[in-house]
Amino acid sequence: MEPIPFFSLEAVHARIRPALMHAWDNMLLNGHFILHERVAAFEQAYAHYHGVAHAVGVGNGLDALYLALRAGGIGPGHEVLVPSHTCYATWLAVVRTGATPVPVEVDASLTINPHRVEEKVTHKTKAIVPVHLYGHPCQMDAIMAWATKYEWWVVEDNAQAQGASIHGIQTGAWGHANATSFYPTKNIGALGDGGAITTTHASVAEFVTHARNYGAARKDRHETEGINSRLDEWQAAVLLIKLRELDRLNAERRALAEVYFRLLQNVGDLVLPPKPTDQAQPVFHLFVIQTNVRDALRAHLQKHGIDTAVHYPTPIHRQPAMAHLGLAKGSLPMAERLAQTVLSLPLYPGLTVSQCERVAEAIRQFF
Ligand SMILES: Cc1ncc(COP(=O)(O)O)c(C=O)c1O
Repeated sequence: MEPIPFFSLEAVHARIRPALMHAWDNMLLNGHFILHERVAAFEQAYAHYHGVAHAVGVGNGLDALYLALRAGGIGPGHEVLVPSHTCYATWLAVVRTGATPVPVEVDASLTINPHRVEEKVTHKTKAIVPVHLYGHPCQMDAIMAWATKYEWWVVEDNAQAQGASIHGIQTGAWGHANATSFYPTKNIGALGDGGAITTTHASVAEFVTHARNYGAARKDRHETEGINSRLDEWQAAVLLIKLRELDRLNAERRALAEVYFRLLQNVGDLVLPPKPTDQAQPVFHLFVIQTNVRDALRAHLQKHGIDTAVHYPTPIHRQPAMAHLGLAKGSLPMAERLAQTVLSLPLYPGLTVSQCERVAEAIRQFF
C-alpha cells in the first residue's frame, strides 16, 4: 500500500511552479532582495485580506510575536496571559521581552479558556496572547471583553489560522497587534522563514516597521532598540502568489476535515476537533484528535503506512528552558494531559478523499 505522508507541499507547488519560476527570474533581473516593492505589495495585499489598515512583514513568527508585544510596551515586570497548550514560540516571545508568561488552561476547543482568564489576573497583567491553535479561532468576543475591562494589550497568535474567521471577521484582525508565521507548513507558507504583524493602528505599524530594521526611523537614525527581522523580497514574491490561493486551499482543508468528521464519529474514545459553526470558521491547519491510547494508535497507523505527528509532546511549562517560571508538574493538568493524548492526522491540500478514508478506516479498525 502506498504510504500516506503526514504533510506534503507537492500539489500546492506543482500548481504555482510557473508563477514561482517567473517571480524568481524577475527578482534576479531587477536585483532587489530586501525591503523593496514586493514586500510593500505583499504587506498591502495581506492587510487588505484581513480587512485591516496595516501589515508589516518580518523574518519569522517568533519575531512577529515579540515585536507585537513590544509595540504595546510589554517588558520586564509585566505578566502576559498565554494558553497553557500552544506552540513553544508563543511563550518564548513573551520571555524574550523580559515579561513573564502566565498560562491559562485551554478549554475543549483547545484554545485559551475565557472563563479561566480572570483567576490569573494580577496588578502586573498587561497583555494576553490568544492562539488560534490548529486553525481554530479563539473566542475573541469574550477575550476582547476582558481586555477592554482590564486595558490589556491583545496580540493574536495567528500562525496556524490564516484565513479563519469569527462572525466573518478574520483572525488576525481582532487584537491590537497580531502576529503570524509563514513557516513553509503554515496555511500560507513561504519557501523559508517569514512572518508578519497585522494591525489597525498606524502607530503599531510604524513601530514595527522601524524595529524590524535595527530600529531605524530613517537611514542612520535609530530611535528604538530594534532587531534585524526583515521579510525577504523573494519570500514576499512567493507569499503574493500563495495569498491568491489561500481561500481555495483552506476550502480544500475544510472538505477533507469533513471526511474525518463523517467517518470518525463515535469511534472508541476519540475526541474530534470542534466543527465549523456559523460563527467560527476554522481552517484546519492541523486535524488533531485526542485518545488515551495515542501511542498505540500511532504505531498501528505507522504499520499501515500512515504517518502522523504530535503537536506537542511536552507541555511548555515542563521544558527545561522554562524551569525558571517555577511551574511544577501537575500545575497545568489540561496541558499535561493533552501532551499525552493529542495526535495530528494527515490533512493538507493535495491529500485525496480516498487517502483520508484510508486513514479513517485504519483508525476504526484499531478500535
Ligand atoms: C502558534 C505558533 N506561534 C508561533 C510560531 C512561530 O513561528 P516561526 O516558526 O515562524 O518563528 C508558530 C510556528 O512555528 C506557531 O505554530
